[in-house]
Amino acid sequence: GTVVLAYSGGLDTSCILVWLKEQGYSVIAYLANIGQDEDFEAARKKAESLGAAKIFIEDLRAEFVEDFIWPAVQANAVYEDRYLLGTAVARPCIARRQVEIAHREGAQFVSHGATGKGNDQIRFELTCYALYPEVKIIAPWRIPEFYNRFQGRKDLMEYAQQHGIPVPVTPKAPWSMDANLMHISYESGILENPKNHAPADLYLMTKNSEDSPSAPDTLEMEFKNGDQCEGGKSKDSPLDIFLYLNEIGGMHGVGRIDIVENRFIGMKSRGIYETPGGTILLHAHLDIENFTMDKEVRRIKQGLGIKFSELVYNGFWYSPECDFVRHCIAKSQENVEGKVQLSVFKGHVYILGRESPKSLYNEELVSMDVQGDYEPCDASGFIRINAVRLKEYQHLQGLSSTK
Ligand code: ARG
Ligand code: SIN
Repeated sequence: GTVVLAYSGGLDTSCILVWLKEQGYSVIAYLANIGQDEDFEAARKKAESLGAAKIFIEDLRAEFVEDFIWPAVQANAVYEDRYLLGTAVARPCIARRQVEIAHREGAQFVSHGATGKGNDQIRFELTCYALYPEVKIIAPWRIPEFYNRFQGRKDLMEYAQQHGIPVPVTPKAPWSMDANLMHISYESGILENPKNHAPADLYLMTKNSEDSPSAPDTLEMEFKNGDQCEGGKSKDSPLDIFLYLNEIGGMHGVGRIDIVENRFIGMKSRGIYETPGGTILLHAHLDIENFTMDKEVRRIKQGLGIKFSELVYNGFWYSPECDFVRHCIAKSQENVEGKVQLSVFKGHVYILGRESPKSLYNEELVSMDVQGDYEPCDASGFIRINAVRLKEYQHLQGLSSTK
């Protein structure tokens, strides 16, 4: 049979490629460009030399931003109050193209290098099953013959040497990374002990605040439909805007977090993330949203955003419930429009001001100096009626404390 392997160019998936061939498969190597720092031409040559039947290197950066990052921005998507989901939103994007290729090439099988303990296996495979129901999945890290043979990096290196797989010359960082244009995540290795601090040279997208500029940079971001349509100086594509925000956020050390999170599988894991552009967008979007969105709509929408984040984290991008939630969120964004001025400085995003043609802010209504369409004496009754419950509650407390 033919298998489309999600190939990264690294040691693991290179060994998997050769191993799949050994098992009798014809292997199509599929490498998604989602903005990671990678020499794609070198990776192509490598896959060729390893005997891939075909190689697809796909530039998914624009669709990653427009179809996956933008909906996450609209949702203010954050998992467990802190993680901006940079890996989780990338997986359905990668797997969507993977099954497209499998379909087109008449391949029955898809394969990936995610481990059997993580979230990524679930995200890849749920997407594959949803979009290509008959697909068969080969997850080597869950196949005993594979994981018993490759128990550590040493085994992979040995196998690579025996099979003419170029072994990495630079020593591997003592942690595992997942990089795309939205974020880089760092976990495992020396980071597995949650007490260990991240070394200062771990971060690749953001500067340490000690080394960041000593003056802030100011930018203006324009939103339409809850999406960012103009960033800073440039009137460019969503991808260009996002890259610009990464650059300026990275320079000022914006968007670092170090957390312990709950994997879908049921275990806790320690992760370190840097999401510079995404963090700027989150702050700016929250601001323009509250400026233009009705209070009660916002409360419902906020709950949907939390739901959305859990669904995406758990791999359910292509589920009926996520589809439903995404549509509701998109509907809520129709009037989320306007400009936010902000500055970035020493790891922080400071909102400076905002303006919008769709603002629900009524300066006259809220003013201390103008009466507007509002009778202050009405507030007395409003407060007294709200106090009914509070009086009852305190009365009961008084009774029980004297007992
Ligand atoms: N824990 C994060 C998540 O589940 C990051 C996963 C990183 N994946 C990787 N293959 N290194 O989204
Ligand atoms: C992996 O297990 O492949 C990375 C971690 C994760 O998916 O959560």
